[in-house]
Amino acid sequence: MKANKELSEIRVFRFDPSTDKEPRYETYRVPCTGYTVMGVLHYIYENYDSGLAFRSGCLGKGSGRCGVCPVAVNGVSALSCQVMAEPGMTLEPHPKFELVKDLVVDFNRVKEQDSGRRATFQITVDLERCVGCKDCVHICPVGVFEVKRKSGKFKSEPVDPASCCGVTCQMCASNCSYDAISVERLT
Ligand code: SF4
Ligand code: SF4
Ligand code: FES
Repeated sequence: MKANKELSEIRVFRFDPSTDKEPRYETYRVPCTGYTVMGVLHYIYENYDSGLAFRSGCLGKGSGRCGVCPVAVNGVSALSCQVMAEPGMTLEPHPKFELVKDLVVDFNRVKEQDSGRRATFQITVDLERCVGCKDCVHICPVGVFEVKRKSGKFKSEPVDPASCCGVTCQMCASNCSYDAISVERLT
């Protein structure tokens, strides 16, 4: 439903470490009503700048959430294919990982200030609520979860909670449709 083509200004973080001296924010006029953040990024790519780098995978279709598309929308981490665009929004790369270019980060490289932190997190899955959909498995950028069969039903389990240390992105908790996950900082 992309009927409304009224254009609004948004800001997008741009930085190519291989060529740019400093990061900058570009302003674009884009349609927001009826568009996801990812839809807006595709709009920019198609209409203004095919050099804009962002990750796009399953586009959030069906249950196949692939988890490749997190960005920061007004400073809050979110899957860009799952949140609706807002006029005036600012889009930045996910803040916890090293930048590759523009909105693309390397999920294998936690930012130094975060990797050095001795924070630990308690990750709890409410098994009464969990339906085993695997969204958390796909979304967690550091592979904390597995879905296993328990008493005949599929349930999520945080098999590697230590990987979450220093990366309290909350993507799992905020994207579980059944409100089954909590991530609490212990230290
Ligand atoms: S914890 Fe939530 S996201 Fe993960 S498998 Fe269970 S219902 Fe799905
Ligand atoms: S908060 Fe931790 S467990 Fe949850 S998605 Fe982020 S890194 Fe994974
Ligand atoms: S593109 Fe797959 S979750 Fe967003």
